[in-house]
Amino acid sequence: MTDVLLSESRRTDPATWWRQAAVYQIYPRSFADANGDGLGDIPGVVSRADYLAELGIDAVWLSPFYPSALADGGYDVADYRNVDPRLGTLEDFDRMIAALHERGIRVIVDIVPNHSSNLHPWFQEALAAGRGSAERERYIFREGTGENGEQPPSDWGAAFGGSAWERVEDGQWYLHSFATEQPDFNWDHPDVRADFLRTLRFWSDRGVDGFRIDVAHMLTKDLTEPLPSRAELEGLPHDGNHPLSDRDDVHEIYAEWRRVFNEYDPPRTGVAEAWVSTPERRARYASAEGLGQAFNFDLLVADFDAAQFRTIIADNLAQSAASGSSTTWVLSNHDVTRHATRYGLPALEGRPVKQGVEWIKAGGPEDWIDREQGLRRARAATLLLLGLPGSAYLYQGEELGLQEVADIPADRRQDPAFFRGGEFDGFGRDGCRVPLPWTAAGPSFGFGEAEAHLPQPASFAKYAVDVEAADPDSTLSLYREALRLRRVLQTDEQLEWTETGRADVLSFVRPNGWRVVTNFGTAPFDLGADASRIVLGPVDAGSLPAESTVWIAPAGR
Ligand code: NOJ
Repeated sequence: MTDVLLSESRRTDPATWWRQAAVYQIYPRSFADANGDGLGDIPGVVSRADYLAELGIDAVWLSPFYPSALADGGYDVADYRNVDPRLGTLEDFDRMIAALHERGIRVIVDIVPNHSSNLHPWFQEALAAGRGSAERERYIFREGTGENGEQPPSDWGAAFGGSAWERVEDGQWYLHSFATEQPDFNWDHPDVRADFLRTLRFWSDRGVDGFRIDVAHMLTKDLTEPLPSRAELEGLPHDGNHPLSDRDDVHEIYAEWRRVFNEYDPPRTGVAEAWVSTPERRARYASAEGLGQAFNFDLLVADFDAAQFRTIIADNLAQSAASGSSTTWVLSNHDVTRHATRYGLPALEGRPVKQGVEWIKAGGPEDWIDREQGLRRARAATLLLLGLPGSAYLYQGEELGLQEVADIPADRRQDPAFFRGGEFDGFGRDGCRVPLPWTAAGPSFGFGEAEAHLPQPASFAKYAVDVEAADPDSTLSLYREALRLRRVLQTDEQLEWTETGRADVLSFVRPNGWRVVTNFGTAPFDLGADASRIVLGPVDAGSLPAESTVWIAPAGR
C-alpha cells in the first residue's frame, strides 16, 4: 500500500521548500572524520551523502565549521567566510554542496552574529589599537567602575558563568554575553552590519540555501549609561524595549537580510534561534519581511505528556496561521540532553529539560534512568512530530535512538558550560556531541581511523548505523520509513483533532485524511477499524500499545 501512497508525494515549490521540510542538523566535528585526525570534517559529510539521501531528509543544517579555537564548540568564529583547516577547504565545501544538491538535499549554514571569537582579526585590531580607537567601536568596550576602574561596568553575568565583562591589558572592559572568548559585536556600527551582509552573500553565492541565526534576539542593545543592574534587568518587561534582549529594533537588521535573501532565486531562507517570551514575539522573527522562520522549542522543553503536547501544538499552529510562516518542531539539538535519554528520566516538575542536567551532574547514575522507556517514548514523540504540519528539525544521531553520554571524564570535556557554570549550571553539552557510531566494529565505531575527539562508550556499538540498517525494527528503519511516508502526509498545513475519550491519547487528522494517534499512557488504546490501515508504528491485536504512535492511511484504499 505504501508505494501507491508515495505516488502522491507532495511537490515542493522551490521558494517555500522549507515550510514543511525535515531538516537534519549536522554537528560537523562529530559527524564523520574523513582524514583520520579524530575530528569530523566536511569531506566526512560528503562521504555520508548517500546515507543522508537514504534517510529521506529534505535539508541539512550545519553547525559552525568556520575557523575557530573551539572555546564554544565552533560558536566562536574567527573567520566567517572560510572553513576551519582541520575540517577542510572551501573547495571541499563546494564539493559538499554539489554532492548534497545532486541528491535533492538543501543546505543551511549557521551564522553567529552576536559575537565573534576573540581571535577574529577585528577583535585583535581592537585590542592593539587601544582605548578610544575606531577599532574598539566594532565591539562593546567600556571603562570600569570603582576608584580605578577595577570593577566591571555592571554586575551582569555571562551565560557560561562569571561576569559578562572582561578586562583587557590597558584597563578597559569588553562585553561578552557568552564565553570570555566570545566578545559581543556592536550592532550600531555600520562595519558590522555591512560585513554580515557580505557573509550572507558569500555563502549564498556558493549555493547555500538558507541560514540558521544564532541567538537572533540578542544583537541590538541599549547601553545608555548608567547601565541597569542585573536585578533591574530581570525586572524589566520583554516588550521590545528591554536593553539586552528581543528588542524591536533587531528587526531592522533582519529586514535588510531579507532583501539580500530575495536577491537570489529561489530566495534564501532563514530560521531564527530566538529564545523569546511568547509565540507572538517569536512570530516577528518568522515574518516574510524578516528571517522567514523561527525555532519553536516548546516541545523540546516539555515532558512526555499528552496535555502539554496538545496545548503546545495548538498554540503554535494558531500562531503560525496568524503570522503566515510555518512552525518548526524540535526535540533534540546540540545544546540539550538527547530526548531518548531525557524521556527515560523522572520529570522534574516546572524544570523542563533539567532532568537531564541533574542526571549528568550526578555522573549519569544507571538507577535513575529507564532506557527502554526513554527510547519507546522518543520514538513515539518523533513519529507524532513528523506527522505535524510545519518543519521538523532532527539532530544527528537521534535517528539511531542514540543516548546522551553522561560519564565523560572532566579532562576530556570541551564545553565551557561544564567548566564555568552560569545559566547552564555546570551542565556540559558534550554528552550529546559525542561522535556518531557508523559501524559496530573498528576504531571509533567507523567515525574515522583515529580515536574520536570525545570518547565514545562501548554501548554505542549497538546503535551503529550498520547494525540498525540491517534491522527492520530499529530506530533508523523507523525514521527512514517515516521520512519516506512524510512526503505524502505533508500536504496542507493543517490538522483537526479527533477526540479519543482518553486524556492520555492524542489523535489528529490531516486534510488529506491521514491520521496520527499517540498513546502517552500505559494502557493499550483500541484502534477499532483503523487498525487495518496502519502504515507505520506498532499495533498489538488491534490496539495501540503504551507510549507509542501510529500513522493511519486514509480510508477507502
Ligand atoms: C546558541 C548555540 O546553539 C550554542 O551552542 C552556543 O553556545 C550559543 N548560542 C552561543 O553562540
